[in-house]
Amino acid sequence: MSDSLMATYNRFPVAFQRGEGAWLWDTDGKRYLDALSGIAVCGLGHAHPAVRQALCDQAGKILHTSNLYRIPLQEQLGERLIQASGMDRVFFSNSGAEANEAAIKIARRFGNRKGVTNPAIVVMEQSFHGRTLATLSATGNRKVQAGFEPLVQGFLRVPFNDMKALHAVAENSPNAVAVLVEPVQGEGGIIIPSETYLNEIRELCDRQGWLMMLDEIQTGMGRSGRLFACQHNAVLPDVMTLAKGLGNGVPIGACLARGPAAEILGPGNHGSTFGGNPLVCAAGLAVLDSIEQDQLTARAEALGSKLLADFADALSGVAGVEEIRGLGLLIGIELDRPCGELVGRALEHGLLINVTAERVVRLLPPLIMSDEEADQLTETLSSLLKDFLEAA
Ligand SMILES: Cc1ncc(COP(=O)(O)O)c(C=O)c1O
Repeated sequence: MSDSLMATYNRFPVAFQRGEGAWLWDTDGKRYLDALSGIAVCGLGHAHPAVRQALCDQAGKILHTSNLYRIPLQEQLGERLIQASGMDRVFFSNSGAEANEAAIKIARRFGNRKGVTNPAIVVMEQSFHGRTLATLSATGNRKVQAGFEPLVQGFLRVPFNDMKALHAVAENSPNAVAVLVEPVQGEGGIIIPSETYLNEIRELCDRQGWLMMLDEIQTGMGRSGRLFACQHNAVLPDVMTLAKGLGNGVPIGACLARGPAAEILGPGNHGSTFGGNPLVCAAGLAVLDSIEQDQLTARAEALGSKLLADFADALSGVAGVEEIRGLGLLIGIELDRPCGELVGRALEHGLLINVTAERVVRLLPPLIMSDEEADQLTETLSSLLKDFLEAA
């Protein structure tokens, strides 16, 4: 591998040359079933005809102008997102971390305007919000933060799925102004909170005058079985962040806001050179069209249920499997031991998976995966898991 790149990733010595649907081919022509979607990005799979067409057409017209001018495709995508989410306004960024940066800035300015000294955002243990300085400070994982001190101040941390802890903050921390939370913790190990957690956070935020900010960067764009995971709870946040699946592979993020939160940022407060340029917005529109036309949120829900049931069958009674859980196509198989080496073994067997939180096999397959492909995924992975657990 070339020394030209900073050593920020532990890469496998495999390079993919092309993809189609749920399949990838490497430079030697070997075929792989993709159960990771580039970490929840390619929800429509690879080389999706609608995305390809939109990008090719747009590349032949105009790629970039500047946010100094109107960008009609950005306005169209903004309209579509606010209609679908019930939010009022959108700021477009290039990544998830930047979408969260916008959310953090909104909360800070919201607090400062209310006259709160040193406004703080309540964040969760085991959360993941990105790698910029503010978002790594918000992230509940010391490994992500270590060596980058001083961290950005202004975050109060509580355990995930713990309303008592949130109520304690409400009682004891007058400088709290917002809560930032993932509807399902992705990097944290596919941790699904109680069914009423988001509703209870909404109630508390209403009572306290806090902003409820949902990081839907991994859970959004249909993956959970709803377009946005908070729609399982019929909850409307004040701020919602998106990225990953929104562009199916082109870098786009979005910070959506509602009510007073949507009016916080004005000219000169925030910006991005590339954010929401014509190319990425053309992709975002094609993604939304395809999710709607092909009813991919319903597909994610059905396929997720099938995979959970099939894994439960295939792994029933297997010692070492602690829990199989999921919401739509956010699936975690938790083992009783670290299992990072499974990723390489799966790769050898032509399967892309991921391990997070050391002991959780994470599956984020594309929403377009067929039942036959899902059967192949269950078969290959179950057999790898059994071998791994028996050998240890
Ligand atoms: C929930 C969540 N928030 C934020 C991010 C950061 O997004 P990005 O890597 O696009 O900056 C991620 C990425 O994994 C994520 O899963």
